Amino acid sequence: MKSSVWHPNTQMKEWKTFDKIIEGKGMWLIDSKGNKMLDAVASMWCNVWGHSKPELVKAITDQSKKLQHSSMFNLTNEPSEKLAKNLIKISPGMHKVFFSDNGSTAMEIAFKLALQYWHNINEKKKTKIITLENGYHGDTFGAMAVGYVPEFFGKFKKQLFSTIQVPVPNNYRLPKGHSFLEYQNFCLDKIEQYMKNDDKIAAFVMESGAQVAGGVVIFPDGFQRKIGQLCKKHNVLFVLDEVATGFGRLGSMSEYTKQKSIPDIVAYGKMLTGGYLTMAATLANKKIYDSFLGEFNRWKHLFHGHTFTGNPIAAAVANENLRLYQKNKLIKKIQKTSKIFEKHYNEISKIDIVGDIRHRGMLMGIELVKDKKKKTSIHPKKSINKIFYEEGKKNGIYLRTLGNIVMLVPPLDISEYELNLLITKTISTIKGARKQVL
Ligand SMILES: Cc1ncc(COP(=O)(O)O)c(C=O)c1O
Repeated sequence: MKSSVWHPNTQMKEWKTFDKIIEGKGMWLIDSKGNKMLDAVASMWCNVWGHSKPELVKAITDQSKKLQHSSMFNLTNEPSEKLAKNLIKISPGMHKVFFSDNGSTAMEIAFKLALQYWHNINEKKKTKIITLENGYHGDTFGAMAVGYVPEFFGKFKKQLFSTIQVPVPNNYRLPKGHSFLEYQNFCLDKIEQYMKNDDKIAAFVMESGAQVAGGVVIFPDGFQRKIGQLCKKHNVLFVLDEVATGFGRLGSMSEYTKQKSIPDIVAYGKMLTGGYLTMAATLANKKIYDSFLGEFNRWKHLFHGHTFTGNPIAAAVANENLRLYQKNKLIKKIQKTSKIFEKHYNEISKIDIVGDIRHRGMLMGIELVKDKKKKTSIHPKKSINKIFYEEGKKNGIYLRTLGNIVMLVPPLDISEYELNLLITKTISTIKGARKQVL
C-alpha cells in the first residue's frame, strides 16, 4: 500500500486502500470518487449536526482569527471559562471542570481525581477500583485497566493495574437459570458484598446509561441508581463515563440525571464540540475539588495537564454547539426522531442472522448470530467490520461494526427521512452480507 498511515483498530493486511473522504455535507460523507455515504456512526459517535454546519464552522473561524491556542498553565481564556460555566449548568452536583483532549484522557483524569481524593483526605488505604465487566473507557493504560475488554487488551494484562470486575446484566445473554430481574439483583448483591467487605475500595466506575463499545448493553431501569446508592452507603466514590452516552445520545442531555444517580465525578467527550474538534472534560463535585486545596508544599494539587488543555478554538465550537442544542430544542427532537428505530424492529428481527436488537435514543446495536435459537456467535475469517463496510458502501452508508454487532449511532440531528433511509439501507446491508459472514 502506498499510504504511510496506520489506521486505528484495523488489521492493515485486510485493506489494500481506504476510501478518501474529501467532503462532509449534512449527514453525508463524500469520497474522492464522488460517492456519497450516509454517516451511520456519526464519525465515531461524535457528530451532532451533520457535517459543515455553518454556525459551528463560523465559531471555529471566528475564534481562530483571535486566539488559536494559549495554555491553561498560569493562564485562562474566555471560551474555556464560558464552557466550564455552561457545563456546570447542565451537570447537577458538579462544581469544577478539568479540560483535556479526548475521552480516554478525560477518564484517566477521573481515575486520578478519585484515587488522589482519598490520599488528600488521609485515607490512603483506599486504592481499589470496582467496575463492570465489558465496560470501555478508552485505549490508554488506565482506561484499559478499568475498561478491560479481554479480547482487546489481554496482551497488556501484566502491565495494567488490577481492578475488581462485576458482571453486568445483559438480558440477551443471561447465565442459565436466571431471570433478568434475579440476575440484576445478583450483580447488585455482588457489588455490595465487595464494598461491604473491602474498605480499600476507592471508587466504582461505569459508563452512564449503557455500555457502548462493550456490546451496546443498555442498563435496566434502576440499576445505575442502585449502584450510586451503594456507593453512598459504603463510602465509595461514584465515577460515571458519559463520553459516549451523554449529550443526547441516549435521549437525555445528562444521562445520570435521567438515571437519578448523581456521581462524584463525570466525564464528557465525543459530542461536546458537536464532533468538530477534539476536546473532553472531567467534572468533579465540591467535595472532590476541596480536597485538592492546601498549602503548595503539601503537594495536594493535581499533577495532570495536556498541551492542548482548554484549547480556545475547541471551547468556542463547544459553546456554539451547546447554544444550538438549546436553540433547536435538540433533546426533544431526538426523543421524537428516535421512535423511527422502533418502527423497524420487526423487520430487522425477522432476518435469520439477527439475534437481538438493543436500542435507546440514538443508539442501536444489532447482534448477529449464526443460530438464533442457540445464540451462537459468527466467526468469519475476514473481519465482520470489513464485510459490512463494503456492503454498506454499496448501499450508500458508512458503517463500522463492533465485532458481531452492527452499530447505528447516527448524527443526533438526523431527520426522520434520513433515519428511515439509514435503517432501510442497513437492513439491505445485513441481508447482502449474510452469506459472507456465515
Ligand atoms: C464510554 C467511552 N469512554 C471513553 C472513550 C474514549 O474516548 P476517545 O476515543 O475520545 O479517547 C470512549 C470511546 O469510544 C467511550 O465509548
